[in-house]
Amino acid sequence: MEDHFIPILFFIAFIILPSPFTALDTIYANQEIKDGETLVSKGEMFELGFFSPGKSKNRYLGIWYKKISYGTVVWVANRETPIIDRSGMLKLNQNGNLVVLSGENLMVWSSNSTVSTLSNNLVVVQLLDTGNFVVWNKDKNGTNQDVIWQSFDYPSDTILPNQKVGKDLVTGLHRSMTSWKSPDDPAIGEYSNIHDMSGYPQTFRLRGDVLLSRLGPWNGIGFSGFPADKENQIYATKFVMNEKEIYHSFSLKSTVIQRVVLTWDGKTLFLHWIERIKDWIVFADAVIDSCDRFSLCGPYGVCSINKHPPCTCMQGFEPQNREEWEASDWASGCIRKKHLNCKNENGERDGFWKIARVKIPDTRRSWYNVSMTLGECEMACKSNCSCTGYTSIDIRNGGSGCLMWLDELLDTREYDVNQDIYIRMAAVELEGLVNPQFDLSKKKTILTWVLLTSSAVIFLSVVVYACRKIKKQSHMKKQGKWNVHDEKNTSMHMEHLDDLHFFSLYEVSRATGNFNVSNKIGEGGFGPVYKGVLEDGREIAVKRLSETSQQGLDEFRNEVICIAKLQHRNLVKLLGYCIHQNELILIYEYMANKSLDRFLFDETKSLMLNWPQRFNIIHGIARGVLYLHQDSRLQIIHRDLKVGNILLDNDMNPKISDFGLARKFVGHDTSTKTKKVVGTYGYISPEYAVHGRFSIKSDVFSFGVLVLEIVSGMRNKEFSNGDHSDNLLGHAWRLYKEGRSIELMSASLHASCVISDVLRSIHVALLCVQHHAEDRPTMLSVVLMLVSDGALPEPKQPAFFNEESFRELESLPSVDEGMITLVYAR
Ligand SMILES: *[C@@H]1O[C@H](CO)[C@@H](O)[C@H](O)[C@H]1NC(C)=O
Ligand SMILES: *[C@@H]1O[C@H](CO)[C@@H](O)[C@H](O)[C@H]1NC(C)=O
Ligand SMILES: *[C@@H]1O[C@H](CO)[C@@H](O)[C@H](O)[C@H]1NC(C)=O
Ligand SMILES: *[C@@H]1O[C@H](CO)[C@@H](O)[C@H](O)[C@H]1NC(C)=O
Repeated sequence: MEDHFIPILFFIAFIILPSPFTALDTIYANQEIKDGETLVSKGEMFELGFFSPGKSKNRYLGIWYKKISYGTVVWVANRETPIIDRSGMLKLNQNGNLVVLSGENLMVWSSNSTVSTLSNNLVVVQLLDTGNFVVWNKDKNGTNQDVIWQSFDYPSDTILPNQKVGKDLVTGLHRSMTSWKSPDDPAIGEYSNIHDMSGYPQTFRLRGDVLLSRLGPWNGIGFSGFPADKENQIYATKFVMNEKEIYHSFSLKSTVIQRVVLTWDGKTLFLHWIERIKDWIVFADAVIDSCDRFSLCGPYGVCSINKHPPCTCMQGFEPQNREEWEASDWASGCIRKKHLNCKNENGERDGFWKIARVKIPDTRRSWYNVSMTLGECEMACKSNCSCTGYTSIDIRNGGSGCLMWLDELLDTREYDVNQDIYIRMAAVELEGLVNPQFDLSKKKTILTWVLLTSSAVIFLSVVVYACRKIKKQSHMKKQGKWNVHDEKNTSMHMEHLDDLHFFSLYEVSRATGNFNVSNKIGEGGFGPVYKGVLEDGREIAVKRLSETSQQGLDEFRNEVICIAKLQHRNLVKLLGYCIHQNELILIYEYMANKSLDRFLFDETKSLMLNWPQRFNIIHGIARGVLYLHQDSRLQIIHRDLKVGNILLDNDMNPKISDFGLARKFVGHDTSTKTKKVVGTYGYISPEYAVHGRFSIKSDVFSFGVLVLEIVSGMRNKEFSNGDHSDNLLGHAWRLYKEGRSIELMSASLHASCVISDVLRSIHVALLCVQHHAEDRPTMLSVVLMLVSDGALPEPKQPAFFNEESFRELESLPSVDEGMITLVYAR
């Protein structure tokens, strides 16, 4: 008898008298914890108790991280009703209600939860390792547990993995994030994210009642226009919509710890815990540019972050108020040039104009059906006079579902993802256009093509790139080759194709004074470049390609069109081309400040490039290369990055030139070796020089050299230092090892430099020039490293450390002499 008795007694004592010295994760009905005591989840991930935020002395009941980031609060109970002293107490009532009391049992907060049937069931509240604080109703066996209440249903400013955000349609519960008032005050602040269900569900970010920005609707892959949700290896976003609930949540795919927080000053940040530096880094910032400002361009306007000004009217529309529009006040938006005639008697029906690759317009006034096809959607829209446009709901597998707008189209932005909209337009308006809505037979090829080619985003938060990268790379490996045939089909539907002008040889030769030597402004890897002036006074740069192509002219044209489609603020814009017998000529925008080497290596001119400008140039080049590598629709490896190929506009912004040409001149297949090495001595990576193997990492190498040249103002290939035979890379490496990196910096930068940025640039550059391609970071990491403050990995010894290594390279038996064609820089 006694044998049985003792353990039972012990068990009861354990429950009723929790020891303050043992970390518990659970309290039972009628138990309490006082200010000073805490609950700790089983794996010690989270802790719950009373705390004072920031400089405040007020006490709040909250949950914070314990094992990592100790004290970072993720949830607060009595946000609006602080306790001013240490008399606070959390108590679980018999009926399942959780209350916070202060002083003389004054209730300051209540979960308002109750157990419906007062059976003999056990009510407990438990802090889980997920960060959720849950009131359970357990049956006697302790097996069946009903959730009566959970803190996950009442988010504060933070969302944790697997926490739902959205609406419960049965209970009416709306789970949304609200910011704190200030770092010292967790009361409900100005900012909130609310879920709008008036049309197809979408999320708004508000400041008070003012709509700041819109997270576009779910498109099967992510939220339209929201880069941070692209597929990535770190977390997955889920969107669920059924009769019972509409919500989204994220779950972690790796061991990275992530939280999403709406900061008191209105930023939605995706934060990752980095154990190495013991800190959170911003992985993504949900609102990133001016095009995210809600309806910046007004009704029927389209915002493009790459255009200046960013707002344009949709095809067939014109500014409602031209004066305001031209004064950069786009709020009144655009109106139709030709009225719709939905009920036209003579059988003339409205048609649709496709706008490709957009964040779809505001869906508050919309109608949807998830099972309709795009064809049915078109019919439905056509036959309903209030329908202004339509699109697919789910863009996967060629698109499905029907979303129809019944009002003005607001808040559309150009966005390089495979989501298109079809806007209603008068038949007369469509007549004059090159590509009215194309027929269905072609659509399939195009969609396939579009799906095969990875999606792209022009100049977004660098984070975006990380997310997309994985998907893209796998596609690109398969894709590698570009398919001229498909490209042709697709190009018929590309709007900016019209921008690519065909110049006659007469025009070009007239513009350049018959290619007069005095107009020659340079000699690139692919031929001489002339300055020219068109009849209308526009200045142009004319590149006369030196090699005759073995391809047909059609193919050449197609390739040029592909290059023309590469548009980024850090790439030189191709304006047109000219083909005449053996002459192949490309016409570019003219860059007033010519190339970077003219400044960098000139004693007096280099003084005009201060540190902020150089840092800006480094960033710009990095973004441009990143775009070529990952975000253009074709993966482009530049293969000849060097200061001479970096041009500067009037404001000293860098623009990369000669991109895409290597493709034409060297080969089409990026997955295999090239027959001929194109590159420039001093910038060329070992695997490329020795084995003719190029990859995006060869460009990374060249970029690293570029950065060292920009920081030091010295050419890699001409570098000499009395002390040793190292080249610039070797010199930089030596200084780095000795902790004297700052000595690499050009003396002219002393007055303007930001030391930490200089050191970071050098460090990143050294990572880029490491011998083994696999050690070198991707361009994405480079961009990230340049902008973040986080610790950087240690670089290994660079390739082509000194002149010796070049000589070794030349004497390598495996090198076929004819394989290496080093194009010497001017
Ligand atoms: C509980 O109900 C009271 C009174 O209706 C309300 O003021 C309070 O906000 C509710 N508490 C929670 C956590 O919803
Ligand atoms: C409790 O467990 C017993 C035996 O395991 C089972 O027969 C009984 O149905 C369970 N009760 C509940 C409420 O689940
Ligand atoms: C959605 O479309 C399908 C197919 O056209 C149709 O069968 C269904 O009734 C529609 N649902 C609604 C709610 O209109
Ligand atoms: C157009 O469609 C919407 C949504 O189905 C409907 O409410 C509206 O009455 C329709 N209008 C016309 C003119 O058919």
